[in-house]
Amino acid sequence: MAVNICGTGSYIPSHIMDNNDIAALVDTSDEWIRERTGVERRHLVNGETTVSMACEAGRRALQYAGVSPEEVDLIIVSTISSNVILPCAACEVQNGLGAVNATCFDLSAACTGFVLAYNTAAAYLAGGVYSTALVIGSESLSNLIDWRDRGTCILFGDGAGAAVLRTDSRKMYLPVTHSDGGKGSALTLKSRHDRNVLDRSPQDRERYEGDGYFMQMDGKAVFQFAVKKVPEVIREVLEKNSVGQDEIDWFLLHQANKRIVDSVAKRLGGPIEKFPMDIQEYGNTSSASIPILLDEMNRKGLLKKGQKIVIAGFGAGLTWGASICDWM
Ligand code: COA
Repeated sequence: MAVNICGTGSYIPSHIMDNNDIAALVDTSDEWIRERTGVERRHLVNGETTVSMACEAGRRALQYAGVSPEEVDLIIVSTISSNVILPCAACEVQNGLGAVNATCFDLSAACTGFVLAYNTAAAYLAGGVYSTALVIGSESLSNLIDWRDRGTCILFGDGAGAAVLRTDSRKMYLPVTHSDGGKGSALTLKSRHDRNVLDRSPQDRERYEGDGYFMQMDGKAVFQFAVKKVPEVIREVLEKNSVGQDEIDWFLLHQANKRIVDSVAKRLGGPIEKFPMDIQEYGNTSSASIPILLDEMNRKGLLKKGQKIVIAGFGAGLTWGASICDWM
């Protein structure tokens, strides 16, 4: 049995921080950020939480799909920035939506998270365990960033995206995923089990910063890893499923840096038009980036029935992976 995405939704906070706002905080410029990352602005939570955004994205996806909350039997929320530990974000979403029949859990795999959550739901559906799943990526990364570190604070943003998956009679595609914990030091963040980082006293902030309680990144190492491994894993997933690269209509990559997407497209032989981007508007929203992009494209009418889509994620862990899906 295969699976089909039958609805998408997203929630983007209305509060915007553009590059000039960031240049007021750290030694950088709009020109540098645009040129080196492609980011022009990002939307940040201002009252919203990871759970509230996940709930709204999920509600919109169900509405689009014409699926009632009671019909959902699996909810997975992918996040590294939840405002709750107990109960998990997925149970909070279940409660918010009234999805009383769903089994709910969270998944933590940073920027590869949505691909892994999609694969997990697809495996449950294909195995006949469940028949309708709601898969959500939701992040409020602005609470995890050191706003005095220009190497990271320029990149990230907040938001949520969701997809409704149902069983389908078409071809079943197998995903390809990898992890390399030996390279974990490239992107790290210790847990501190609360979210109001910016509100802490200066003494507390001092202590947390020194001990790695804000996101720390070796940007060059992550960049080099991504431009090498993402084209490789896309070729692997195509080969594994005997699908030609020219049969793919869209390559939806995790939105980490415009130069990474450009480089992957070039290494795969393009064309760049098949590699859509919205990083200029949202920055890197980690596990929310792929479902936000998917929802934008869907609502613009760019995704046509029968089109083949590759989704590819990569990030902390290090982890990376790609999956193929047929559209609606
Ligand atoms: N503004 C202005 N100058 C900056 C800067 C900023 N925000 N950040 C770094 N610089 C400076 C550096 O100090 C350095 O100066 P120097 O040459 O005088 O030493 C110069 O710019 C180049 O720094 P470098 O770190 O080599 O920049 P880069 O081209 O690698 O770009 C990143 C930095 C972070 C944008 C880039 O490495 C990147 O995007 N990496 C991938 C990150 C990512 O995707 N992470 C998430 C994965 S899911």
